[in-house]
Amino acid sequence: MAKLDTDAAVGPTPRAHTPEAAPASAPSEPAQGLAPSRRRFLQGTGLLALSVAGGALAGGGLLASASSRASAHSRTEITFASAKFYGKQSIGQAVDMFNQSQSKILVKFLELPPPSSSTEVHQALVQQLARRSGTPDVFTQDVIWIAEFAGAGWALPLDEYVPAADRQQYFPGLIDACTYGGKLTALPWIVDGGMLFYRKDLLEAAGAKAPQTWDELTAIASEMQKSKKVDFGYLWQGKQAEVLVCDAVEAIATNGGAILASDGKSAAIGSDKAIEAVQFLYDTINKSKISPSDVLSWDEEPSRLPFTGGKAAFLRNWSYVYAIAQDPSGSSVVDKVGVAPLPHFAGGKSAACLGGYQYGVNANTKHREAAVEFVRWMSSPETQLWFALQLGLAPTRPAVFKEQKLGQEQPFMQQLETVFTGATPRPVTPKYAQVTLAIQSAVSRALVSGEVKKELDAAASRIDKIVA
Ligand code: GLC
Repeated sequence: MAKLDTDAAVGPTPRAHTPEAAPASAPSEPAQGLAPSRRRFLQGTGLLALSVAGGALAGGGLLASASSRASAHSRTEITFASAKFYGKQSIGQAVDMFNQSQSKILVKFLELPPPSSSTEVHQALVQQLARRSGTPDVFTQDVIWIAEFAGAGWALPLDEYVPAADRQQYFPGLIDACTYGGKLTALPWIVDGGMLFYRKDLLEAAGAKAPQTWDELTAIASEMQKSKKVDFGYLWQGKQAEVLVCDAVEAIATNGGAILASDGKSAAIGSDKAIEAVQFLYDTINKSKISPSDVLSWDEEPSRLPFTGGKAAFLRNWSYVYAIAQDPSGSSVVDKVGVAPLPHFAGGKSAACLGGYQYGVNANTKHREAAVEFVRWMSSPETQLWFALQLGLAPTRPAVFKEQKLGQEQPFMQQLETVFTGATPRPVTPKYAQVTLAIQSAVSRALVSGEVKKELDAAASRIDKIVA
């Protein structure tokens, strides 16, 4: 294993979920401007159309890592597709480091839109994997797609390549999330969970602590709005997109409810606890007014911007926000931000929605050994530490979580380890793509109309039919 440089040069502000900004260190090239050879390669793999979609969504196109343009000759070439993540460095740099670390395999990196465009990334991958052509050889997948990709036979079972002793080096919950039908069909990469970012300075000045309950949060947020310390009390993500499901799962779980019943075969989203939780989200906009109605069209980044701009008291978001908040080039709240588990309803418990991306090997790859070697390198302790320090992505190995360097640079990760390891999964089913659309449209309509019971009942009967 090549030693990774975890001190790699500091680049631009981390923008893990930012579609607009591309880092200088990872130049993007619009598909139209591709060199003829690269255009031919993409056409051959069927990924040109995808690169154009990615360009429209991601403000760029596919990124070709520098060494992917190098001559391959004796090397086994494999393709690797992933949603776009970057911070001080980008995934392309990790691929370059792999390519430079050995001389047998050459990985070409195909960059998809960022994870906030979850539906588009999913669609792009499904189109490719369903062709069963073996391209891309390796991919990263949102934790919610593992069951679907495994159930369709698109993801190679990795049990024989990852012995039990190696599997024990990951958080057990993540190995569970990567296991479908008793087989390990994905290899853990990064874990995430929804968490509460708060203005430590304002809370301290008001003599308040991070709120434990939604009532406490509402009281503090209202007070700060009234005293004009902030424009917005609480920011979250109400856009009709995957992240809305995450916010809903969290609200419902912090009230002791769930999307599915415990047997996984019927919906629980029509329960009183779920209705009360979604009503709370509606009330943040319409009753307590701690949230602006804009949250209904915001996903991760639009909701993050006012917070790091110093205009909001509280924000629900993923772990990537911390590094941005600490970077003076894009943040007005350096050293003023605390991170805590999300509040809960009276009688409930804090909960986080399980997020994160994991590696998959295409079951139809023609280069199985090379693909496995690459994912093992990408999931290794050294590479996970590099991703944590350079891109702010939380490791899936307890040993990496404990690294001193991680504690120094991203202290909240170690403090909130249980947020990551105890997170609540979204429904685990090969039909998740249908389930998420049912949740997204019902919750979205409930938040606009206020007819929470009617919409959640309708979602419950749709979900019952899907998972029955
Ligand atoms: C984050 C999570 C992912 C989730 C997505 C929603 O990227 O890691 O699991 O689906 O956000 O926007």
